[in-house]
Amino acid sequence: MSKIYPVDPTFAANAHLRKADYEKLYAESVKDPEGFWGRIGERLEWTKKPSRIRDVSFDPRDLHIRWYDDGELNVSANCLDRHLATRGDKTAIIFEGDDPSESRRISYRELHAEVCKFANTLKHLGVGKGDRVAIYMPMIPEAAVAMLACARIGAIHSVVFGGFSPDSLAGRIADSTAKVVVTADEGLRGGKKIPLKANVDAALQRPGTNSVETVIVVRRTGSAVAMQSPRDRYYHALMEGQSADCPAEPMEAEHPLFILYTSGSTGKPKGVLHTSGGYLVYASFTHELVFDLREDDVYWCTADVGWVTGHSYVVYGPLANGATTLMFDGVPNYPDFGRFWQVVDKHKVSLFYTAPTAIRALMREGEAPVKKWSRASLRLLGSVGEPINPEAWEWYYRVVGDERCPIVDTWWQTETGGILITPLAGAIDTKPGSATLPFFGVQPAVVDATGTVLEGPAEGNLLITDSWPGQMRTVYGDHERFIETYFKAYPGNYFTGDGVRRDEDGYYWITGRVDDVINVSGHRIGTAEVESALVAHPKVAEAAVVGCPHEIKGQGIYAFVTLVAGEQGSEELRKELVAWVRKEIGPIATPDYLQWAPGLPKTRSGKIMRRILRKIGENQPDQLGDISTLADPTVVKNLVDERLIR
Ligand code: WTA
Repeated sequence: MSKIYPVDPTFAANAHLRKADYEKLYAESVKDPEGFWGRIGERLEWTKKPSRIRDVSFDPRDLHIRWYDDGELNVSANCLDRHLATRGDKTAIIFEGDDPSESRRISYRELHAEVCKFANTLKHLGVGKGDRVAIYMPMIPEAAVAMLACARIGAIHSVVFGGFSPDSLAGRIADSTAKVVVTADEGLRGGKKIPLKANVDAALQRPGTNSVETVIVVRRTGSAVAMQSPRDRYYHALMEGQSADCPAEPMEAEHPLFILYTSGSTGKPKGVLHTSGGYLVYASFTHELVFDLREDDVYWCTADVGWVTGHSYVVYGPLANGATTLMFDGVPNYPDFGRFWQVVDKHKVSLFYTAPTAIRALMREGEAPVKKWSRASLRLLGSVGEPINPEAWEWYYRVVGDERCPIVDTWWQTETGGILITPLAGAIDTKPGSATLPFFGVQPAVVDATGTVLEGPAEGNLLITDSWPGQMRTVYGDHERFIETYFKAYPGNYFTGDGVRRDEDGYYWITGRVDDVINVSGHRIGTAEVESALVAHPKVAEAAVVGCPHEIKGQGIYAFVTLVAGEQGSEELRKELVAWVRKEIGPIATPDYLQWAPGLPKTRSGKIMRRILRKIGENQPDQLGDISTLADPTVVKNLVDERLIR
């Protein structure tokens, strides 16, 4: 039996929702989704009120997902203009730089003016409704400004994480045929400079990127960077003289808001497409209820805007709710391991949302760097990105939250747009390691491998049986792939790619990915991506990549590499290949283990049997299962004998 932390009555007394509210609203949300989401949709300001609330079919032969279909709104007006009358002077963004001496506050009025000016800048550069804009930026307010300016004029942004390599950036630019790239001279993380502009230059040398007409460069460090005329323009120079008046254009509810690339089982990362109305309803509604948001909260989500968490819970959700959101451009261990808590005290952060990997890394440093700071302003803690192990949960609760702050362990995905399974702090008792119960309108199901729906306590694959407004609408440019990936395995249902256990109280425990996606420090990496990077090296004949347990990252990357005939595996070559993958994809894809494989376990038809490699990576050589179908069972003995984790 797992430990239960009952709802704190003091917290519940002031919370938006209590237990009875959750039960009543949940029942209503699944019984009458039209009525429920119609009412919740009214939280936004629509230039044309929707009358059709949902039009959904999960049938792969007629797949379509539309919410608030005939409504019109502007996302940036909902995040900015709407607040000016009542919250004009309220801080919208607190910026905290890498260097602890750097911070600034931007009011809703100021942010509105900046966004209008940048929207006018984009228009001036010929960017219009439906055009794609790539954003490759540090965690600076200009990243949010660029996103909101796109939304204002109906351009579709595609934010690319600043840690990705020129090749990864180029692939995303090419797939979305972006017209403009917004970047900075350099990023600054943990005192180290990241050559963002130089990476853009390198990316734009790659084939398929000549859709880019303009590169806009924000001065972040002020270092001299190569500027190529007329393509490259400085942000500050372009903004000069632009009007701070830019009327928000009404967009159809289903007009695309953004594309965000994410890794899947096969092939290249796919462009997850989210649209305007349903996405914003869902991001703002979940943000308000999951974090139990109040007017005077200071809310800090440590995610980078390069990931979906940064989209929904740094920018869109909080700003649509008129909240104060903190953008942090640093890392948890610079200048020291107390940085998070120093920032919490400095800005009186009350709601704090981070990833288990960060908690585990801090946990290893002991309590002293936490206890050095008061953290008295904190009232709720959140976790996202990967399963949180109970030990890390307990530490977060006891040491960071002083046993005073409830924890919300929120399960969701890039594809879902917002949180789907989570506790509500005033309403749902928590169990360390469980994301607990579904949010309103979310209907999870557990199925076995044959697709049979399991009732009661059960373990299997996690499906969602009906739509919610924040759901992705398609894979950009490849609707077939969208249907194939998510709706074919269990027709009529959305397949999450995650495994799950449901306990005797109906609580959900996410067990991790069941496909070929590795979750490294809360970041998704496709095994196929790492493999194709490895085989691109001239000395590599073949590679197979699996996930392995990792104390801090949750999962690590374990690569089996077969060299071309005549090459010898050496320590030097191992280092070279690791560096090669970092360069090809980015540091987040760095292999933790690289084992030389004279042969890989293959079926007689030549398919690599990853199941076996996974067990070797997990150091469970006695659980390889049936290997008799292998073309050459002897290769397994060598791999087991030489395994790197024991
Ligand atoms: C995993 C991040 C357990 C899961 C928002 C999912 C989690 C993938 C949790 C999506 C959680 C996310 N508990 N696992 N609270 N949150 N995951 O697209 O495997 O970057 O499928 O979205 O992260 O990662 P993504």
